Amino acid sequence: MSDLRKLLDPVWLVENLGYIRTQHNPLVKFKPWEWQREFLRILDKHDKVVLLKSRDIGASTVAVLYYTADTIINGGDFLIASYKKESAAFLYENVKVFIKNLPDVLKPVTELIEDTKHGLIIKSSGAHIKAVEMSPKVGRSFRAIRILASEVAHWKEPRKSWVALTGAGTKGVKICVESTPNPAPEGELFEEIYTNPEYYSCEYDWRVSPEHDEEWERKRRSELTDKEFAIEYECDLTKSSEGNNVIPISWVDGAITRIMKPEGEIVFGVDVARYGDDESVVVIRQGPKVLDIKPFRKIDTMEYAGRIKDLAEKYSPSKIIVDVIGVGSGVYDRLREQELPAVEFNSSEKAEDSERFANKRAESYFGLRERFKDGDIDIPNDRILRQQLTRQTYKFNSRGQIQIQSKEEIKKKYGWSPDRADALMMAFANVKKGKIGIYTDVNKEEIKKWESLINS
Ligand SMILES: Nc1ncnc2c1ncn2[C@@H]1O[C@H](COP(=O)(O)OP(=O)(O)OP(=O)(O)O)[C@@H](O)[C@H]1O
Ligand SMILES: [Mg+2]
Repeated sequence: MSDLRKLLDPVWLVENLGYIRTQHNPLVKFKPWEWQREFLRILDKHDKVVLLKSRDIGASTVAVLYYTADTIINGGDFLIASYKKESAAFLYENVKVFIKNLPDVLKPVTELIEDTKHGLIIKSSGAHIKAVEMSPKVGRSFRAIRILASEVAHWKEPRKSWVALTGAGTKGVKICVESTPNPAPEGELFEEIYTNPEYYSCEYDWRVSPEHDEEWERKRRSELTDKEFAIEYECDLTKSSEGNNVIPISWVDGAITRIMKPEGEIVFGVDVARYGDDESVVVIRQGPKVLDIKPFRKIDTMEYAGRIKDLAEKYSPSKIIVDVIGVGSGVYDRLREQELPAVEFNSSEKAEDSERFANKRAESYFGLRERFKDGDIDIPNDRILRQQLTRQTYKFNSRGQIQIQSKEEIKKKYGWSPDRADALMMAFANVKKGKIGIYTDVNKEEIKKWESLINS
């Protein structure tokens, strides 16, 4: 029996031997669509997957088949946590249809000993498969090592349910979180998971389904507002979330996949940790290309300045742009003392375009935004940076100026501080006309020299 299992591969099983029940047909051979093939491989490769999806593209079905196959082969329990009773029932039906229609030779591993309303047990391994309408009461009673969290942004009490489901953590648990966006507060948890670096995130809109053609699109668009269509079918989190994202996820992903030549001056952006658990981060770029992101933890200003000096010796930057708020000024002073081309960046300072922006921080983030929008930036695939960039929002203040969420606000809301994103923003900040502050320990000639270098 175990030998039989060794011969089986879940992706192969689903692609070659799968049957499903559709809304129109009680039993059809499962022929995966192109995107489903791709998604099967993602599920197979990554334990934690989050899928931002269009409605009705066959996402739940393919995830259910994959995890069911994996349960048959590898044992352990599988829970389908859905947002609606009917949807849970439909997906559960698919589990049964799939298992019962596998070929007879697989009987030793597919025989079921119990078939209660929403749960079954695979005889050979004792593995349970169950589908539920998700609520905070569910999780605690069920120890699954595979979870399909379906339409999470539409769960009734998402946060409480999530805690119930993952209370003891998700270590060793295979989990797929999928949803269409939801502009209501219920949608927030999903967006957080979507930008959580521990998850492999992917996005599939309505176009991936071969059942959706131009005719279908015309019809749908005529029934919905633009905003509704964007949310339901185009995976538009920006339209969905209350705040306005400075840099949409798709632009960030564009910058991650883009490959540009490192040409032009080398600039460092230096963010200095304000609290014990924050990171100090140096972002190193050459022209539009980010060469490296160097995070440091629990490091004092002197030590940090030393590390920056080492990096400067390696890269010979023309500018080192340093966040001088709070302890940052100590790092700045120390760099200047060592005759490095440090330039101050003070985020609360007045913007050049002070009509439009509340401060330097907002202006610089919007400068960075332009680069992402125009495709003039290439960043490494750093999941933490990606998360930080995509959570940055802006609003208009009472004077109509653009204002960016402050570090403190972000830290309060998410528990982390956007240090890598800030360092990136500084590395690209326009400080050309910036004045170098007069520091007593640096002579005026030196300052002139650096100023002319920076402003050249
Ligand atoms: N490869 C396929 N071939 C034919 N029909 C399919 C295929 N994959 C899924 N379906 C059918 O498409 C419909 C939508 O599937 P499913 O519910 O899995 O999609 P979904 O993206 O999770 O949708 P929802 O947004 O409603 O949750 C179902 O009727 C399902 O049986
Ligand atoms: Mg679904």
